[in-house]
Amino acid sequence: MTINVLINGAKGRMGGEAVKAVGQDPACRVAGQTDREDNLPRVLAELRPDVVVDFTQPDAAYPNALAIIQAGGRPVIGTTGLTEEQIAHLTALCAEKKLGGLIAPNFAIGAVLMMRFSAEAARHLPHVEIIELHHDQKIEAPSGTAIKTAQMIQAARPVPPPPKVREVELSPGARGTAEYSVPIHSVRLPGHVAHQEVIFGGLSERLTIRHDSIHRESFMPGVVLSVKKVMETDRLVYGLEHFL
Ligand SMILES: NC(=O)c1ccc[n+]([C@@H]2O[C@H](COP(=O)([O-])OP(=O)(O)OC[C@H]3O[C@@H](n4cnc5c(N)ncnc54)[C@H](O)[C@@H]3O)[C@@H](O)[C@H]2O)c1
Repeated sequence: MTINVLINGAKGRMGGEAVKAVGQDPACRVAGQTDREDNLPRVLAELRPDVVVDFTQPDAAYPNALAIIQAGGRPVIGTTGLTEEQIAHLTALCAEKKLGGLIAPNFAIGAVLMMRFSAEAARHLPHVEIIELHHDQKIEAPSGTAIKTAQMIQAARPVPPPPKVREVELSPGARGTAEYSVPIHSVRLPGHVAHQEVIFGGLSERLTIRHDSIHRESFMPGVVLSVKKVMETDRLVYGLEHFL
């Protein structure tokens, strides 16, 4: 059976890559391409795609996902910026309708491994901070990958180590932001795609786990895998690791 896939945000950088990658897979067919000017609920009603891949922008991710699920499509959401509450609600909606789905802050296989290894390292080296680096067109900070990494670190290291001194920030934000008790520092510069360093400090030792996406095609094997996997399940999951 061919999987009919609608790509939403098809005119964007990630959407364009997804159109190419999904179109090249013999098990899939690009049934439609939509972007900002299209009426998503109407297109969904007309095309009735099996799966909808969404790479749009943070404030559009939630309404898009609601429309996709409402229409009986299986969402594969790569757009970042969904809150914990929104993810919980979308998960409940998919469970109700018995729809497979995925929300993934990062589709690169290496990034998933970087997060997994970081969680493992945090059990032994609890002092950890994250530096994430992205291109200068990225809207939100910190990145979804950094937040998810921090969440996984917190689950592995439930009690963060207390600070050694009472810190004073001379400029607000100098010590980054704290998500799940892990400081995150965000860099936005031309010449970057998506990169992250998770730095652990121990007694006279340092461990750095780094991942680099050097081209957006690095995300595509994960996208195509997810399109197939959501057809085989009846619930929505958060994170590509569930499909690996
Ligand atoms: N999960 C991952 O692996 C991963 C990797 C890279 C980027 N991202 C995320 O994917 C998203 C897109 O990134 P990009 O670099 O392709 O951005 P982009 O700006 O190049 O493309 C976004 C596209 O979405 C369209 N769009 C905006 N609002 C829309 C709406 N309401 N309905 C339909 N289309 C809409 C825009 O017109 C544009 O064509 C961002 O949230 C980014 O953080 C995720």
